[in-house]
Order: sequence, then structure tokens, then C-alpha cells
Amino acid sequence: MKVRITDTVDWVGYVDWELRSFHGKEYSTHRGTSYNAYVVREEKTVLIDTVWAPYDQGFVENLDREVGLANLDAVVMNHSEVDHSGALPELLRRIPNVPVYCTEAGARILKGLYHEDWNFVTVKTGDSLDVGNGKKLVFVEMKMLHWPDSMASYLTGDAVLFSNDAFGQHYASASHFDDAVDDAELMAEALKYYANILTPFSPLVVNKIREVLALGLPIARIAPSHGVIWRKDPTRIVGKYLEWAQDYREHQATVLYDTMWDGTRRLADRIAEGLRAEDPTLVVKLFNVSKTDKNDVISEVFKSEAILAGSPTINRGISTAMAAILEEIEGLRFKGKKAAAFGTYGWSGEGVAKLNGLLAKAGFALVGEGLKALWNPDDAAQAKAVALGREVAKAVRGDAGAAEPEHP
Ligand code: FEO
Repeated sequence: MKVRITDTVDWVGYVDWELRSFHGKEYSTHRGTSYNAYVVREEKTVLIDTVWAPYDQGFVENLDREVGLANLDAVVMNHSEVDHSGALPELLRRIPNVPVYCTEAGARILKGLYHEDWNFVTVKTGDSLDVGNGKKLVFVEMKMLHWPDSMASYLTGDAVLFSNDAFGQHYASASHFDDAVDDAELMAEALKYYANILTPFSPLVVNKIREVLALGLPIARIAPSHGVIWRKDPTRIVGKYLEWAQDYREHQATVLYDTMWDGTRRLADRIAEGLRAEDPTLVVKLFNVSKTDKNDVISEVFKSEAILAGSPTINRGISTAMAAILEEIEGLRFKGKKAAAFGTYGWSGEGVAKLNGLLAKAGFALVGEGLKALWNPDDAAQAKAVALGREVAKAVRGDAGAAEPEHP
């Protein structure tokens, strides 16, 4: 199977409709994914990337049928991660001498993963591969977007940017193109992908996009390594990345909580009431983190101006579900967001202090000292929860102070 991308570029990847988690269990893929590989058919025939190892046989056989393995002049590996390099051993077992174009880091990583000394040709930004008919594949290093080896390749003439993971989405589709799928689904998956994978690298994203835009190259297609190809208006997703990379926030506050006997949940409800009462324009969402997909929660945190994190005190600490999501949030290094903590307790009551510490460590500016409520929150405690909601809404609006984060 192949899908025509331009007159001389075909998609030859694999659509993984059944995948429900990626990176082990680190990333949920409710709508599956695809491993996109492409063939450039000019005077030279060049394969760009492969697919994940479970699909290597089918991939290589399909490539043989559609292109003929003996006709491949080169393989470009934009990125070594196993979802793209998994079929390389099977392919190179059949055509061992074909040159493999990648960055120096890419060659090192591929050797580390597969213990093979293939015919590597290492490239840097600005290097190119002449594919004939007056066209070239120009390479652009994309270091740490999102691995040290990442790069993009740009096909002159057709103006196709093979961006690998950048601009991707974990989104299986029958149609392969942005203008042929549900736009809300597509953009939700693109945002989830950015929020959960690329957020820590946002300063690099901005610099790299500016560097590429400064070249003034036309871009007719952006062909990432996951999800659909951007052909309707490729600059739209580039613009979105620039927005998302610059401390992105919508006018939203998100209440995250875990609860044992509904006391902390009641506080969450009252906090939400206070947020809405203070600012009816604020989008207020609540998630029980022990019942909600963590990557979906991260997408909501990404969109938020403020979060409230609540847990009952358990064993002098917080619930494992809340601890897990805050560990994830810290690693993603969100910037410019506010936070407050809350929770019930029965005797020692360390939970809120622990939450404050974790939120501050994750770079959030704390609003107030948080709210502790003894046992089942009474009317007075519930009123304090409404007041905390109001206080956070005011801080978001800018008419109440929030503590500076402990680290930027
Ligand atoms: Fe899709 Fe970083 O691999």
C-alpha cells in the first residue's frame, strides 16, 4: 500500500489502529497512531524513516512490492527512536550496503540499539543529498526535538518538510491528510502531543522554528512521522507550535483532586464554585486524577492559567495518583502558571504542605497557603473552599498576588 503525497513522494508507513499506549504506558493513544515512512522517487529512490519493529516484515514486503528493495539508493533516518527505526534491521538484512543518512548522534544511537555497523553517512544542518531531477533533500538538525539525534529533511522543488516527530499526532486515520479528518479531533491530538512530549523543549522549539522560517523556504506539505500530513495550510501547525511553545495558557483553571471518602471532592466542588462566582468567563474543569487518563489531565494543565491540587493526607503524604501526576507535571517544566493546594485530614495533616512543596518545585506560583479541612468539611470549611476559588480567580485576573515560584 502507498499513498500519494506529491507526484514523486509516497507514504509507505503503517497505521496502527490498535495502539492504546505509547512509550510503554507513558502516553495514552486513544485514537491509535501511525508510523509514517516516505519514499522519494526521483532519479534516486530514497526511503525516509521506517516503522516500529512489530510491523517490520509487512513494511519491508510492502516496500519491495511498491518500490523494489533493489531500487533503493539511500535510507534517511530522521530519528533513531524505535518507533521509526524498528524495521531498519529487517530492511538492511536484505540490502545491507545501502547508505543510511543520519546525524552523528543518530549513528551512535542506532549502533547502541541494534549493534550493527551499517553504512552510515552522517550529516549536519545544510548538508544535502542530490536526488536528481534538479532536486535535493536538505537536512536540518533538530537536536533535542525531542532526542539528541532528531533531524528534519526538506525536499526542494516539491517543498515537502519531513519533520519527523515535530508536528505529529498520535492519530490513526484512513485518509492521511489534515483536511480529510475531523479538525477538532486532529487539533486535540496535536495539542496533547505537544503538551505531553514537547513542553520541556519549548525554548528550542521557538528558536528552531524561527531559524527555519528565516530561510524563507516555501513549504507545501509538512509530513511528520506520526498522524496526518499537513497540506491544507501547513503554516497553521507551525503557528500553533509557536503559540504552544511560549508559555501557552487559555483562560482556564483546572481543579485536580483525589479523594478517599468524598471530603476532598466536596472541597473541589466548592473551589470550582468560587472560581466561577469570581469570574464567570473562566473555564473551570475538575478531574479526579485517580480516574482520569493522566495524559488528558496534562493537556488540561497545559491549557490552564492556574491549577488547584487536592489530596487527603494519607500516611503523612498525599495519594499515589496525585503524587504521580505531580511528578509528571514537574518533569514537563510548565511556566507562568499559578497553583493552590487543598485537602482533608484526620490527625497529622501533612498533605497540603506536601502539595505546596511539590507545586512550587514544579515551577508554579503559589496562591495563598492552601486549605486544610479536618475530617468531613463542615460549612465553615466549605466556605473557605469557595473563598480559595475566588482568591485563585482573582490571582489569575491579576488583582491578587501569587508567590514567585522557587525556580523559573
Ligand atoms: Fe516517534 Fe521520538 O519517536
